Amino acid sequence: MERTLVLVKPDGVQRGLAGEIIGRLERTGLQIIGMKLMQVSEELASEHYGEHVGKPFYLGLVSFITSSPVVALALEGPSAISTTRKIMGSTNPAGADPGTIRGDLGVDMGRNLIHGSANEQDAAREVSLFFDDSELVSYQRATQPWIVE
Ligand code: RTP
Ligand code: MG
Repeated sequence: MERTLVLVKPDGVQRGLAGEIIGRLERTGLQIIGMKLMQVSEELASEHYGEHVGKPFYLGLVSFITSSPVVALALEGPSAISTTRKIMGSTNPAGADPGTIRGDLGVDMGRNLIHGSANEQDAAREVSLFFDDSELVSYQRATQPWIVE
């Protein structure tokens, strides 16, 4: 089983698309093990986006992600990271495939609606950055045998 961190970014929350975005991820069969609406602080934003420090879009990115609340989710399941990235679509919504969240719901690189961890190392770091262990819930789903063999 793998875990990943998802953020419905401020544009998704402001546009009333949080339910639509979470629903698309939920329908894959990935299990929600953590979820909360939260305001991202400058400090959290700079830790989360540390890999982009110094890039031309960095300040705008931090300003955007701290501009309004996000919904943070921790998802768990087989290939949770790659499944989530597939459903999200490529970074620039203008080139993202139809059927993906970014391809269907966005038009601009700086307003691409959703974050998903890029790899296992980032996922572990990001889940613990956004969630205390006590906020992650362990529970059995009756549907699990119908989702994972
Ligand atoms: P994310 O981290 O948000 O899930 O997106 P990503 O992996 O697809 O893209 P990443 O390369 O990590 O970039 C993080 C966010 O920065 C903005 N960005 N702007 N103007 C630009 O060239 C540029 N490049 C990246 C995007 O909002 C991207 O989601
Ligand atoms: Mg990224």
